[in-house]
Formats: sequence, C-alpha cells, structure tokens
Amino acid sequence: MNKNIVIIGTQWGDEGKGKIVDWLSESVKGVVRFQGGHNAGHTLWINGKKTILRLIPSGIMHPNITCFIGNGVVLSIEALLKEIDELESTGILVKNRLYISENCPLILPYHIALDTAREKQKGVNKIGTTGRGIGPAYEDKVARRAIRLKDIFNPKLLEEKLEDNVNYYNLLLTKLFNESEINFSSIKEYLTKIAPIIEPMIKDVSNCLYDMCEKGENLLFEGAQGALLDVDHGTYPYVTSSNCISGAASTGSGVGPKNIDYILGITKAYTTRVGSGPFPTELNDDIGIKLSTIGKEVGSVTGRPRRCGWLDAAALKRSARINGISGLCITKLDVLDSFDYIKIGVGYQINDTFYDVLPYGISNLNNILPIFETISGWKSSTASITEFDKLPEQARYYLGRIADISGIPIDIISTGPDRNDTIVLRNPFMI
Ligand code: GDP
Ligand code: IMO
Ligand code: MG
Repeated sequence: MNKNIVIIGTQWGDEGKGKIVDWLSESVKGVVRFQGGHNAGHTLWINGKKTILRLIPSGIMHPNITCFIGNGVVLSIEALLKEIDELESTGILVKNRLYISENCPLILPYHIALDTAREKQKGVNKIGTTGRGIGPAYEDKVARRAIRLKDIFNPKLLEEKLEDNVNYYNLLLTKLFNESEINFSSIKEYLTKIAPIIEPMIKDVSNCLYDMCEKGENLLFEGAQGALLDVDHGTYPYVTSSNCISGAASTGSGVGPKNIDYILGITKAYTTRVGSGPFPTELNDDIGIKLSTIGKEVGSVTGRPRRCGWLDAAALKRSARINGISGLCITKLDVLDSFDYIKIGVGYQINDTFYDVLPYGISNLNNILPIFETISGWKSSTASITEFDKLPEQARYYLGRIADISGIPIDIISTGPDRNDTIVLRNPFMI
C-alpha cells in the first residue's frame, strides 16, 4: 500500500514547509505542488548550501524523485523557466523529472500589471501582495477566461483568447488605473517561442499520480502559503487567492480525498506574517525585533521584513479543524532559546466575549485583546538537537502545551534550518 501525505502551513506562511518537504522526500517517489504560484518561497539548507524554491516542489533536491505541478497552481512560465535554469546551472537535473498539468492557468504580464496597479491605488489599505499576479490569475480561472497551459499549443485558440484578455485588461488598466497598455504581440511571441521547451514536461498529472498510487509509490503534497491565508477560511480580505488548506491537495492535483492518509501541519514556534492584515499576537516592541533578528525573518520572495509575534494557539486550533491535521511539526524552536519568558496566545477578548478559537471575520483589530499564557524560557541551546530527550525540560513543557491546547500531537520538531536539524517523534510514513 502506498502512503500519501499532505504538508500544509498552519499560520500565515513561511513556517518552514520547504525544509520538512525536503526532509520527508527521502520516503517518497513523487512530490506535488497543488496551489499558489511563485508567491511561495520555500528555503532548503543542504550541506551549508541554500536553495529557495518558488514553483518547483521541494523534493527536487533528491535525484530519484519525480516532481509535479498540479492543476491548482497558477503558472508563470517565465518564473518556472528561470527557476529550472537556476537549478540546472548547479547540476540538478529538472526537465526530465518535472511534470506539469496541462490545466494550469497561466500568469501573464497583464495579471502582474493589474495586481500592482490595484495595490498602488489602495495605498495604506493595500493587501501587501507579492505583486506576482496571483489574484488576477485566479480570477481568470474562476471567470472561465484563463489561458491554460494546453492552450499555448493551439495557435488559433491562443490568439483568440489572448486578444480578448489583453483587450479586457487594457481597458481596466487604462480606464480604471491610469496605467499603460500591455502589448498583445510580445506575449504571443513569447508563448509561441517557449511552447516547444515546455511541451515535454506537460502531462496528465492526475493520471500520473493515480498510476504511482497503484504501484504502491508514496507521494508528498507540498502546500504553499498557510491556512490563515486561505481565501475561504483565512483572515479575508487579507489572504491569498487560493485555498491553501489540506483539502486543496485533492482539487489542485486530481487525487481524491480518500487517497490522503495523513496531514502534517507545519507550525512555527512563534508567528510571522508578511503583508497587511490582522495578527492578534503581534509584537511591536523589542521582543518582536528580537524574534525577527534571531529568526532571520525576511521574506524569501520579496525580501520584505516579516511581522513577528508569539505563537497563537487559538489560531492553531482553527487551523487544526479546517485542515484535519493528523500531526504537527513545530519549527524554529531554537529561535526561542535565549528568551527569558515565552508567551502562548490562548484566546481573545472581543467586546466582553472570550474566544478560544480564532473567530472568522476579524478584519478589524482594534477591539481584539489577545489573552496569553506565560511560561519561563529554557535559556539554553536547542540548535541542531536531534533527540527529544536532549531538549531542555522547559522546551519540552512548551511543546507539550502546544499539543494540549491545539489537541494535536507533535510528531516532528525542527531545531535548525538544515535538513538534519530534525527530531522525529513519529515518522508519518511509519505510522
Ligand atoms: P516556507 O515558505 O514555509 O518553506 O518557509 P520559508 O523558507 O519561507 O521560511 C522559513 C525560514 O526558516 C527559512 O529561512 C528556513 O531556512 C528557516 N528554518 C526552517 N526551519 C528552521 C528551524 O528549525 N530553525 C531555524 N533557525 N530556521 C529554520
Ligand atoms: P510561502 O509558501 C508568506 C501573502 C502576501 C500577502 C498575501 C497575498 O513561502 O509560505 P499574493 O501575492 O498571494 O496575492 O499575496 O499573501 N503571501 C505569503 N506570505 N508566505 C507565502 O508563501 C506567501 N504567499 C503569499 O505577503 O500578504
Ligand atoms: Mg516562504
């Protein structure tokens, strides 16, 4: 019997998903991205060398793994080819083992232009998007006007659809946003030129994954972003434009939910957020700066500083429910090593009512009072520890509180950015 595991972020992204996908990849034959696009930035440290992946699944560093980009991903071919070139220039072969769904909606220059124009117009009320055109590309998919990857091999259809879309976007850009027009011919020429390069990588991903499952081969599904950025369940409207919860692994790859065996929720030992939006346990003080400095909390895609705060266990509870998490992986425990005390958000006081689960619809932060539980710090190094029993007692207590409050067992703990800085309590492939 094969085993399929979904890895998702339980917070607002950047929990350390890439590192854990890479680490678990030694137990699988395939790794699948199923939503998001090149707004993701997944960092791997292997033997002192750093790699940041945006679209290509984090299993690619293992030579015998096949990587898949499922239909749920919005695809910038330009970003993809750049990433392939970067990896291949370091000797990692990609083109012969990366398969892309023909149904992926494409991100084209007019999506990026509209994304940035909207943010500019919103001013202080901006979402703080990555400016990669993600939102407009998903809008096109739902509006049934998207140019899908397979369309680039049908010149007549491509020309018709592209013309309609360029006209539509140029109207918006010039009339609503006072921006310049996008050029139809340059997009058409680019897509025509790269079509033969991309063609050998295109597959019926759903069928490929079905065949692998039938052969008993294990698969990993690599989530991007995090559950609180989910377009339905996150802190709307300060979210991304895809579903990033575990259920999206099915819709975004074409593998039915019955075939998912275990869901691993990656949770940073504290909380970070890039861009605007509510963040009840945020620290706008020296402690926040200390978390940011020790945790090196700078966005891996846009280089923006990440906002930092204590772990929000009430938000984690929400995340556990919407994802159906089987086990947690707590990352960046080592970042808390030098703190005198550590706080855990256990709920919120909102207008005289206490909530122990993140409520929906908290776009206004003014009346939310986070309620904390405080524990003393362990004040010793956990960096690179690989055995649970070697962790300081107080660190084990902290982990125990996270498991108790969220109601989810902790199966993996990460004590450093390197592949090997990992403690395994239960290997999801061996349960
Ligand atoms: P992702 O988007 O969820 O894959 O996470 P990112 O790669 O954007 O951000 C996580 C950052 O934390 C990266 O710089 C990782 O190298 C780093 N990291 C991951 N796990 C650990 C850990 O346990 N300890 C420390 N100190 N850094 C970690
Ligand atoms: P990984 O996979 C953190 C955030 C952006 C912005 C919001 C909407 O590395 O965890 P978008 O460009 O998607 O329309 O932006 O979502 N965001 C992320 N934050 N990590 C990510 O990915 C993110 N991808 C998008 O900062 O607030
Ligand atoms: Mg990231």
